[in-house]
Formats: sequence, C-alpha cells, structure tokens
Amino acid sequence: MADLVARVREVLPSVRADLEDLIRIQSVWADPARHSEVHRSAALTAKLLSDAGFREVHIVQEGGAPAVIARHPAPEGAPTVLLYAHHDVQPEGDVTQWDSAPFEPTERDGRLYGRGSADDKAGIAVHLAAMRAHGGNPPVGVTVFVEGEEESGSPSLGALLSAHKDLLAADVIVIADSDNWSTEIPALTVSLRGLADCVVEVATLDHGLHSGLWGGVVPDALSALVRLLATLHDDDGNVAVEGLYEGTAADVDRGPDWVATETGLLDGVQQIGSGSVVQRLWAKPAITVIGIDTTSIAKASNTLIPCARAKISMRVAPGGDALAHLAALTRHLESHAPWGAKVTVTPGDVGQPYAIEASGPVYDAARSAFAQAWGTVPVDMGMGGSIPFIAEFAETFPDATILVTGVEDPGTQAHSINESLHLGVLEKAAVSEALLLGALGQNDSGSR
Ligand code: BES
Ligand code: MN
Ligand code: MN
Repeated sequence: MADLVARVREVLPSVRADLEDLIRIQSVWADPARHSEVHRSAALTAKLLSDAGFREVHIVQEGGAPAVIARHPAPEGAPTVLLYAHHDVQPEGDVTQWDSAPFEPTERDGRLYGRGSADDKAGIAVHLAAMRAHGGNPPVGVTVFVEGEEESGSPSLGALLSAHKDLLAADVIVIADSDNWSTEIPALTVSLRGLADCVVEVATLDHGLHSGLWGGVVPDALSALVRLLATLHDDDGNVAVEGLYEGTAADVDRGPDWVATETGLLDGVQQIGSGSVVQRLWAKPAITVIGIDTTSIAKASNTLIPCARAKISMRVAPGGDALAHLAALTRHLESHAPWGAKVTVTPGDVGQPYAIEASGPVYDAARSAFAQAWGTVPVDMGMGGSIPFIAEFAETFPDATILVTGVEDPGTQAHSINESLHLGVLEKAAVSEALLLGALGQNDSGSR
C-alpha cells in the first residue's frame, strides 16, 4: 500500500504534463467550429490510455461527440471497475477576464489554471495516474470511459451505452466529475440535483410602437417579461412556484463565511432563500434566469418592445421529478402573465436528480481508500449541480455500485473564468483511486 502511494507520486509529473497537453486542446463541443478540437482531445485521450497500458482502446461515436473506451480485462474472479470522465469543456467565456490564457495551462500558488483543468480533464488525469501507478496491470478489470459531450447534456450517451453495453459492463462505476468538501477534506457525492430549463416568450404587440405616442397606454413586452420573472421568487428569494419538491439535506453545514468567500458576493448583497446553506444547495429547488433576448442597449430607441424572451433554468431537489417540475414552472408562467400578455413556454433540457444509497462493501472500500489518501474520512456530500447521465448508467447497469468522486474543490470556479485544479487535490484523488483499485482487487467487495 505504501508502495502504491509512492508510485502515484512517481507518475504524477508525467500525468501532470499529459493533463497540460489536454488543456491546450480547445475541446468545446458546444461550439461547432471547434468540433475538430474535440476529435483531437479524443485522439490524445486514446493515445494516453493506450500508453498507460490499456491494450484495447476504441474511439466511438453514436451521432454525437467522440468518446473513448479503454479496457484492461479483469483477472479471473476479479470485478471490473468503470472509470468515467469527460474530455469536452465549457466555453472559455470572456477571455479578457482571465488572469492567464484559458487554454494555456499556468501554475499559480499550487493551482493549475486553464479551462478543463478540473472539469473534467483532471478526471482523465486521475484515471491515467491510477493505471500507471499499478504499472498498467491493476488487480481488477478497468474500463475507462471518457465522454465528449457532457457539457452539452450528453445527448448521445444513451446510444453509446446501448451500442457498447458489452464493452462498458462493470461491477463498480466511478464517476470522477464532482467536487470535494475542501482542498483538505474529500467527499463522496451522494446526491445531485436535477435540471429542467425552458424559454419563455412574452408578446404584447404585433409590432413595435413609438414609446411617446403609445407609452403609458399599452404595455411593452420587456416590462411584462420582467414582471413575470419577478413572480418566480418571493421577497426573501425563495422559489415561489407551486408544486415543487423540497427534501432534507444531511446534517452537516458550511461555516458562516463560506458563501461570501467562495462566491465573490459583493459587499452588502444578501444571500437568498431560507434554510441552511446545504439545505438550499442540495435539497431545495432553485430558479435562475440565465439569458434574455431583447433589444440591446446599443440598439435601443424610443420604441415599445413587442416581444421578449428569457431562458429559465431550474434545479430539482432529489426526490422530485424533473418533468413534473417543468410542468409546474410552465403552469406558473402561463398563469402569471401580467396585463394579459401572451406567454409561450418552449420546454428545453430535462435531467433527473439522483440520490445514491451510499453503503455496502464498495463504499466501505472507497471510504477507507479516501481516508488513507487524504488522512481524513470523506464527507457524504450532496451536490447542487447535476450529472443527469448518472441515472442512465444506473438504468443500463442496475447491479453496479456507483461512486461519484471528483477532483474539483470549492475554489475551482468550474464554468467560470480562471478555472483551476488544486494540485494537492489531484495527488490525493489519484492516490485514492489507485488504492481503491487495489482494494477492490484484494477482496470480493467489488463483486458484492
Ligand atoms: N462536473 C459538472 C457537475 C458538477 C458541477 C459537479 C459542480 C460538481 C460541482 C458537470 O460537468 C456539469 O457541469 N454538469 C452540468 C449538467 C448539464 C450540462 C446537463 C450542470 O450541472 O450544469
Ligand atoms: Mn464535469
Ligand atoms: Mn461542467
């Protein structure tokens, strides 16, 4: 065991160099102009896995982005572990806001900055490190599955899972795409919120009108839309849509200053909603307006706007049904139109929340591997974000135990400017995974 820890430390510099090469590839699947980059990141991922000792490596595609499947067959009687990560990344956003170029990996203060440095190219790095630490020959079967369209909602994942079900079948599934409690305390993610979004269009006029000639008599659509959006929350910032589900979060909480330090909340700006921080993040629904299409200020004239649209994103607490939540939101929007404005709701993406029964021999093995690697036991953590495809894995492989791990920490700023990976977390996550593979190969915990 001490050996394995030492071997992870030995292979880490090479893993870090490979991670940097991955970060240099702009694998933004959401941007069609960069699909070739996503093919490049799949090709590099496949090469790195093959060099790490996987003898069977496939690049597969089922109508969407290329994914990589690499296999090390299970020794006789040993379980097979599927290790998941995604090689696509979020768009970089406003480059001028980054402190270093988004696709040029840069180390500052023990963190490696760059788009995808944590979400989720670090997941690939951890799988490489675990395989290399075992000298390419771990005592369990290992299948690495690296998807290429997670940040776009994994639309073809279902097709990939069914087309390659035989290649992907496993006893244990490790999804390395989540968070840790902090850079010093690990976490196993045991619940995730679901997701449902829609576009609401508000129309009040069949064409724009001179705002002096008609203002004050007929409503403009943007004012109507803003009033409609304002009905989604009460004065305290709690969601005010009827029929949404609220659960109960685990009995842990964040310190009093955690939100302010982690979010960049401006001085004097209040938090919204009632209940503890983890209750609000893990167990309550949330509604956010994530975009508006209307006349820009640059193009604004004294005209009553006839029609405006907003995209609304809702998180669904575990225990709730994402489709029922979307229906409840739609009913709310349709029944709260101010001044008789015409409201049209176009449904968007839906992903179910997920709660894991985090017990049994695989969880015991994982908790002790994490405790050894980090020096402290992992927190069972809920997650405000969503990994909708976990439900698809669970349906396809109902007998597999699913572990949700990850290399992010609260300072990562995934999806935002200056995304970064804490290098100490990378090492501890890699040691944890290497130890877990060793432990699952030693007893029969993987075969349940
Ligand atoms: N890795 C994240 C999920 C996540 C976010 C885990 C924060 C832990 C902390 C994943 O890549 C992601 O961004 N998921 C999307 C899902 C969507 C694109 C369907 C999300 O949560 O918005
Ligand atoms: Mn991710
Ligand atoms: Mn993400």
